[in-house]
Amino acid sequence: MVEIRSIGVMGAGQMGSGIAHVCALAGLDVGLYDIARDRLEACLNVVSANLGRQVASKKITEEQRREALSRIKLLTDLEGFSDTDLVIEAVTENETIKRKALSQLCPELKPGAMIGTNTSSVSITRLAASTDRPERFIGIHFMNPVPVMQLVELVRGIATEDETFEAARNFPAFMVNRILLPMINEAIYVLYEGVGTVDSIDTAMRLGANHPMGPLQLADFIGLDTCLSIMQVLHDGLADSKYRPCPLLVKYVEAGWLGRKTQRGFYDYRGATPIPTR
Ligand code: CAA
Repeated sequence: MVEIRSIGVMGAGQMGSGIAHVCALAGLDVGLYDIARDRLEACLNVVSANLGRQVASKKITEEQRREALSRIKLLTDLEGFSDTDLVIEAVTENETIKRKALSQLCPELKPGAMIGTNTSSVSITRLAASTDRPERFIGIHFMNPVPVMQLVELVRGIATEDETFEAARNFPAFMVNRILLPMINEAIYVLYEGVGTVDSIDTAMRLGANHPMGPLQLADFIGLDTCLSIMQVLHDGLADSKYRPCPLLVKYVEAGWLGRKTQRGFYDYRGATPIPTR
């Protein structure tokens, strides 16, 4: 059995920060890579603040927070992964960008190193085929916010070895998004068709289905570009018109209103409280 002691995280975005957070807290050495130094520093601040929330609610101690932070090393050079056991790719949810990142990563890794991808929709078999080690490649899909959510989906490609799968499982199917994203897309259709407003749709699902967030609030939280990408993958891959991305979702993405990360999506986050944009 391969033991994973050191982790690399490629991409210091929303998911990268959460993955680095939980891995460091679990006692693993973490190398966090991004091209931009300022993004790495911002990401470490996010991890520090989120660890702080866990200290405040007594889930961890201040000492655990400090230790976890000290285990995260910031890297602007992929050579930093030369001795890493498992590198998890968490760059933008776009197949071309992911393939490019993987092709840059592979030559820097030691021979037995595993690669995980945090994709939530792109085919693992196809991404694996773009690497030099398809049998050591696996989908490790975290949910956002990573420190809070209890599920991690492990997804095998056609070439993934049992050993790789077991190693990934011991280290803490795209089923969730197949169900979650059509629900979000449907909520956007309900808005698009004028059946409900942003507020009434979210309130209805919070109160009527006991969801912690309404679907439009959740879409903003995930990122509308990511939501659109996932719907496109479902639509193209399963060839069923029920997955057709709602035109209103496409419009928001075209406008650059991508949700919380750009301060505007189905809600406007620029003021003290979020205001529906429709
Ligand atoms: N790091 C650490 N702790 C965090 C955190 C973070 N990033 N975000 C929230 N928390 C903690 C808070 O500190 C708080 O802790 P205590 O209860 O101990 O005080 C707790 O989580 C609840 O947070 P809040 O009180 O701030 O707010 P809330 O009760 O409204 O919960 C939420 C916030 C956990 C995000 C909740 O709204 C929720 O579960 N939303 C749904 C999230 C979801 O569906 N995620 C899946 C998205 S899909 C995905 O990720 C897959 C994909 O590929 C698109």
